[in-house]
Amino acid sequence: MEKLTGLKKLKTAVFISGTGSNLKNLIKFSKIKKTPISINLVISNFNKAKGLKYANQFKIKKKIFNFNNIKNTEKKILTLLKKEKISFICLAGFMKILSKDFIKKFDGKIINIHPSLLPKYKGLNTHHRAITNRDKFTGCTVHYVTEKLDSGKIIMQKKIKVATKDNSKSLAKKVLKLEHKLYPAAIKKIFS
Ligand code: GAR
Repeated sequence: MEKLTGLKKLKTAVFISGTGSNLKNLIKFSKIKKTPISINLVISNFNKAKGLKYANQFKIKKKIFNFNNIKNTEKKILTLLKKEKISFICLAGFMKILSKDFIKKFDGKIINIHPSLLPKYKGLNTHHRAITNRDKFTGCTVHYVTEKLDSGKIIMQKKIKVATKDNSKSLAKKVLKLEHKLYPAAIKKIFS
């Protein structure tokens, strides 16, 4: 990824499906002085995603796509990204899988945050799996998005101890807190 100089900030779109705590955190990060990104667009596959409220609150353009016809939808998204001059995409709790063609068009410019220490626990229910396997540690990962699910090059990871009293809910809460530290740090790392 190119180095950013001066005041030029990378126009970024954040894709969400749910609560949007990572979106809120990235918006906060995009407002600090030395940030490499500006968030110009929020995209969701779900019109009731709670996180959409942050787009309203911070007056960021938002758009909902239903993904019934993935090919058609991605075409529309690409047109919008072009129109808004977006050159960087952060997936933040986005629960749809993007096609190979879409990813190719943004090669090396889409990143994702995942709630496990990849390559462990790709896919869903990561915390449940960590508890069931009595893992001593868990954490989160920011990685580049490639056509293989949760398998792109790792940018940064953070790890925490699993306590004996933890269950998947308490672990999810702890890891989410960690994600809020990791995502901005990983973005800084990419552009430094
Ligand atoms: C986060 O824990 C994120 O890592 C996870 O969904 C949550 C979204 O929380 N993402 C995935 O599982 C992607 N496979 P948020 O909506 O509060 O940011």
